[in-house]
Amino acid sequence: MRKKVIAGNWKMNKDLNESQNLVSGIIDGLGNDNKCDVIVCPPFTSLSEVHSLIKNTPVKLGAQNVYHENDGAFTGEVSTGMLKSVGCDYVIIGHSERRTIFGEKDDLINKKNKKALADDLKVIFCIGESLAQREEGITNSVVEKQLHKGLDGISSEELNNIIIAYEPIWAIGTGKTATPEQAQEVHSFIRNYISQNFSKESGGKIIIQYGGSVKPDNAASLLSQPDIDGALIGGACLKADSFLSIIAST
Ligand code: PGA
Repeated sequence: MRKKVIAGNWKMNKDLNESQNLVSGIIDGLGNDNKCDVIVCPPFTSLSEVHSLIKNTPVKLGAQNVYHENDGAFTGEVSTGMLKSVGCDYVIIGHSERRTIFGEKDDLINKKNKKALADDLKVIFCIGESLAQREEGITNSVVEKQLHKGLDGISSEELNNIIIAYEPIWAIGTGKTATPEQAQEVHSFIRNYISQNFSKESGGKIIIQYGGSVKPDNAASLLSQPDIDGALIGGACLKADSFLSIIAST
């Protein structure tokens, strides 16, 4: 049985003070409950402080992005070593906002995936189709290409440290969620891809999260699908009570 993993992507929200308040609310509400794994991904500016608050709790820390070089003249970027030095275990790579707003392409995302894994960070690797691609009926081939390019050169062993987040772009921040059936169909396609291109064992083990307007009132039906192993949450993770209620629905 795969344990569910619920991650909150705070995006560009919450200054230091607000971050402390949010994470404190999450920790208080969660207690020692560890039915599922919980990850919070605050902005870079809050990572260190959030880390000191989650120590000795089941909550894990993730960053929202990373660069694939160790150091140097890369203004505005952060390295894997920097993330680890402030307590990150996870990093989100290839989020659709990075792809569409900041122009990140599959080859850059692949470099980031490889670098993060080589330096012992776990990766939440995001993929998903646009509305036009879904309407064109090419969802599976879009997702397949993102998997093929993003996971190029990654071993089955390294894959143990990857969570795949399927996030249809048309569902992110729009209030439109994929139906549980639509999501399940793509999740099952992704799991088969992993079974065929890595191993059956890898396919059985890999955690595949759904993301895109997950809310307390739709989480349970999505999370009850056989190939949906958790959720990557944006808007609904910005308040402790809605994030906690999604966690409770696992
Ligand atoms: P949303 O964002 O829950 O606000 O749709 C999800 C995400 O971008 O990870």
